[in-house]
Amino acid sequence: MVVRWVCASFVLLLLVGFMLNAAEFVNGGITSSYARKNDISADMPLDSDVFQVPPGYNAPQQVHITQGDHEGKAVIVSWVTPDEPGSNTVLYWTDNSKQKSSANGIVLTYKYFNYTSGYIHHCTIENLEVSQSYNGCWNWEYHKTILVYSPPRAGPDVPYTFGLIAGDLGQTYDSNRTLTHYELNPTKGQTLLFVGDLSYSDDYPFHDNNRWDTWGRFIERSAAYQPWIWTAGNHEIDFAPDIGEAKPFKPYTSRFHVPYRASESTSPLWYSIKRASAYIIVLSSYSAYGKYTPQYKWFEYELPKVNRTETPWLIVLMHSPLYNSYVHHYMEGETMRVMYEPWFVEYKVDVIFAGHVHAYERSERVSNIAYNITNGLCDPISDQSAPVYITIGDGGNQEGLATNMTDPQPSYSAYREASFGHGIFDIKNRTHAYFGWHRNQDGYAVEADSAWLYNRYWDPSEESSIASF
Ligand SMILES: [Fe+2]
Repeated sequence: MVVRWVCASFVLLLLVGFMLNAAEFVNGGITSSYARKNDISADMPLDSDVFQVPPGYNAPQQVHITQGDHEGKAVIVSWVTPDEPGSNTVLYWTDNSKQKSSANGIVLTYKYFNYTSGYIHHCTIENLEVSQSYNGCWNWEYHKTILVYSPPRAGPDVPYTFGLIAGDLGQTYDSNRTLTHYELNPTKGQTLLFVGDLSYSDDYPFHDNNRWDTWGRFIERSAAYQPWIWTAGNHEIDFAPDIGEAKPFKPYTSRFHVPYRASESTSPLWYSIKRASAYIIVLSSYSAYGKYTPQYKWFEYELPKVNRTETPWLIVLMHSPLYNSYVHHYMEGETMRVMYEPWFVEYKVDVIFAGHVHAYERSERVSNIAYNITNGLCDPISDQSAPVYITIGDGGNQEGLATNMTDPQPSYSAYREASFGHGIFDIKNRTHAYFGWHRNQDGYAVEADSAWLYNRYWDPSEESSIASF
C-alpha cells in the first residue's frame, strides 16, 4: 500500500515537473525586477533654463539638423527666427579651411488655431565631403554655430553608432534626464534615430503650439550638433477639426523637413536614407498603409532596392510596435504587422525600432506569417530571418510609464522593463552590431539590457539565405 502511494506520488511529481517545464517553455524571457518610482513627471515650466530664448534681436533658435539626401552627402539645417524672416543663408566651412561656402534655404510660417509660428527656415547644404567636420552659422553677430560631421562613404564594413533617444520624449524633467543621459553616454551616438511623438503639445488646450517652440529649444543642445532622423507618431497628427484644424501633421511637417523626395517618396512621413553601413527606412503608422495606398506602393519597391553588399544593416523605424507585450497599446500595430511582416522576413530586415509604448522591450527573432484564416497557425514562431523588434518609447513624457504587462510574458518577448532610458545601436562591421539599452537611473556607461545582432545578410551561418536572397 505504502509502495503504491510512493509510486503514485512520484508519478504526480513527474507530472507537476513536466507541467512546470512546459510553463517555462511557453513563457518568454526576462521581465526586469527593477522597480522605479511611477510618479508621473510634470512638464518643465516655461521659464526653465532648457527653454530659454537666446538673447539678441531675432536670434536663431530651435536649431536642428537631419540628413538632406539619400546618400548622406547633404544635411538639412532648420531654425526659427522669432521677429522677422532674416537671412536664409547658412555659411559653412571645414575645420581646416578658411574658405567659407554658403547655401540658401526657404522660410515659411504656419497658423494653428490662435497660434502663428515664427519664421521657420530650412536650408539644405549639399555635396559635403565624406567624414568631414563642418561648422556653420547664420549671422556673425549671434556667434551661434552648428557642428556637422558628415558621414563616411556608404560601405559594408564602415563602423557607425546610432543613438536612440526613445520616441515619446516630451518635455518633462524625465525627458531632460533622458537627453542628458544620452549626451553623457561614453558610447556616443553619431546620429540619433527618433521613433516619433516629439513635443506632446497636443496634450495642451487647443494643441498649444508654443510647446512646439519650447521643445525645439530643449532639443537644440543635441539636435544642432548631430542629425536626428525623424519618424512621425500619433502626437504629430494634430488633427482637431473641432477648432478648425483638419490638416493632419501640419506643425510637424512645417517644422521638420526630411529628404523624402530623394527616395522617391511622395510624403515626408515615409522615406529612406543610407548612412555609413546602414539603410534606414522610415514608415508612418498613422498614414494609410494598406494595399494600393501611396505608402504601400512606395514600400513595395523600396525593400528590393536595398543593396546589402553596400549597406548590410537594414533598419526600419516606425512609431507603433508590431510586437508588444505591455497592456498599453497592445496589438495597435497588428494591422501593419499583417500587411508588412512577410516582407520584413523575406528581405531579412535586421532590426525594427518603434516607440509609442512608454517602456522598453526587446523581442526574440520571431515571425507570425503562416496564418491563412483557416489553418490555425497564428502563434509567433522562432525565425532567424525575422527582425529583432525593439520598443523604445521610454523618452519620459508627461503621460508616464506603461507599467502593466501581459502575464505570462509571451515567448516572443526577450526582455521588458518599464523604465525611461535610451539605446545605442553600434555597428561594428558587416556581420556584427551591438545594441545596449540604458535606463536613466544608472551610471552613464551602465547597460540594463544588451544583445549582439548578427547580420541577416552576411551572417556566415546564413549562407543558404544569402544565396536565395
Ligand atoms: Fe505614441
